[in-house]
Amino acid sequence: MKEFQGWIDENFATVREDLFTFLRFKTISSDSSFLAEHKRCIEWLCNYFRAIDCRSEIIETCGLPIVYAEDMHAGPKAPTLLIYGHYDVQPVDPIELWKSDPFEPVEKNGQFYARGAQDDKGQIFYAMAALRFIRETHRQLPVNLKFCIEGEEESGSTGLAKALPKLKEKLKTDYLLVIDFDMLDAATPSINLGARGIITLEATLRGSNIDLHSGSFGGIAYNPNRAAAELIAQLWDENGRVAVPHFYDDVDELTPHDKSLFSKADSHFIKDAGIEALGGEKGLLSHEACWFRPTMEINGISGGYTGPGFKTVIPAETRIKISCRLVPNQNPDRIGQYVKDFLLKKVKKGIHLIVDIQHGGKPYRGQADSKLSKAVGKAYEDLFKKPCQKILSGGSIPVVADLMSVLNSDVVGMGYGLAGDNVHAPNEHFGVDRFKNGIFTVARAIEYLGVL
Ligand code: BES
Ligand code: ZN
Repeated sequence: MKEFQGWIDENFATVREDLFTFLRFKTISSDSSFLAEHKRCIEWLCNYFRAIDCRSEIIETCGLPIVYAEDMHAGPKAPTLLIYGHYDVQPVDPIELWKSDPFEPVEKNGQFYARGAQDDKGQIFYAMAALRFIRETHRQLPVNLKFCIEGEEESGSTGLAKALPKLKEKLKTDYLLVIDFDMLDAATPSINLGARGIITLEATLRGSNIDLHSGSFGGIAYNPNRAAAELIAQLWDENGRVAVPHFYDDVDELTPHDKSLFSKADSHFIKDAGIEALGGEKGLLSHEACWFRPTMEINGISGGYTGPGFKTVIPAETRIKISCRLVPNQNPDRIGQYVKDFLLKKVKKGIHLIVDIQHGGKPYRGQADSKLSKAVGKAYEDLFKKPCQKILSGGSIPVVADLMSVLNSDVVGMGYGLAGDNVHAPNEHFGVDRFKNGIFTVARAIEYLGVL
């Protein structure tokens, strides 16, 4: 710990400068106009790995490329640790609500502000900095170390998922560490043992060939915005349950073990976010709902005129973006199909509805008593001097279940994120102290893997 403190004091300025360089690349995966930024970013990452004595390469996929790096010097008898993270980020809109440029990082009040400051550039970069620390303090790596940093996590990880069978040998590992998670709260060390799956859909409702004057056609045509509202209103029942038939068919009841997991969870983040209206299933605690139950959310509705001022129009078309978060045993494709069937059945006649089932990812669980979970847990405990909690996430990392099955590997998730970091929202930020703690925790966990 003392040695780490000395190293970080001496080197923090350059670590920070490198983090800021990483954050400046506009690697928004959902927007293909940023392709050149992705290219520059992955080249920079590869060079960074080379500078810390790792063999690194760019792996092309049918989607965006992956950065792969390895140090196999521990030899064939030593175990291998694969660290997964992502260099892509979510779009920045609404841009007018950012207090500083999302791609010009700043440090203010102990926080780094930028798109990706936490999710996931800030988090994966502390793992890279941990390796730099290990190198510069002349520590031996007790494991073979691999990094897989992909560029499409925020848009479904299709490229990596499709390339996985081909990458089976290259990514072969004993332990999989996913660094893209939150902790329970700022004072409570926690490792993550599972996340929800996801399936996303986009529905397009078309009512006419062209936008209509709402004076000439109002009261005559069935407005697709209204059709969308009436359709959406049927998706939940009065108890907040999703009304799509078969949606809950494969969902297991909560076990006492499940309940014990979140007994210490606290829900202050609900108040912090200014939430007063609750929309989930009635009678559930917030962590029960978020960790153990599936949900459906409308992530976006667009149709008609939404710009400044007013335009009296009946839109030709309305679009709805829908996502379902899934729990163990639920199959993303099947759930997507149930939702699609429901929408097609319920939409009023005359509205031309197209439902496109998009990307998905399966839910997964890690083992609580694995060597990796103990190593990471102990690393957190060294820092916080209190027991590390085991938690789940309501979020999704779509490719993890596929990684586990192709690599036949258990998984542990870690992270220093907090619910209040504004990830995916304006003014995303990440605590400087948490970033530094991340460097220490990863380095210490690697050390423990060698002795446990
Ligand atoms: N880092 C998040 C996953 C996460 C979410 C962890 C919430 C902890 C709390 C990840 O980058 C993410 O946002 N994933 C997306 C995947 C989706 C776009 C397919 C998600 O969960 O929405
Ligand atoms: Zn994210």
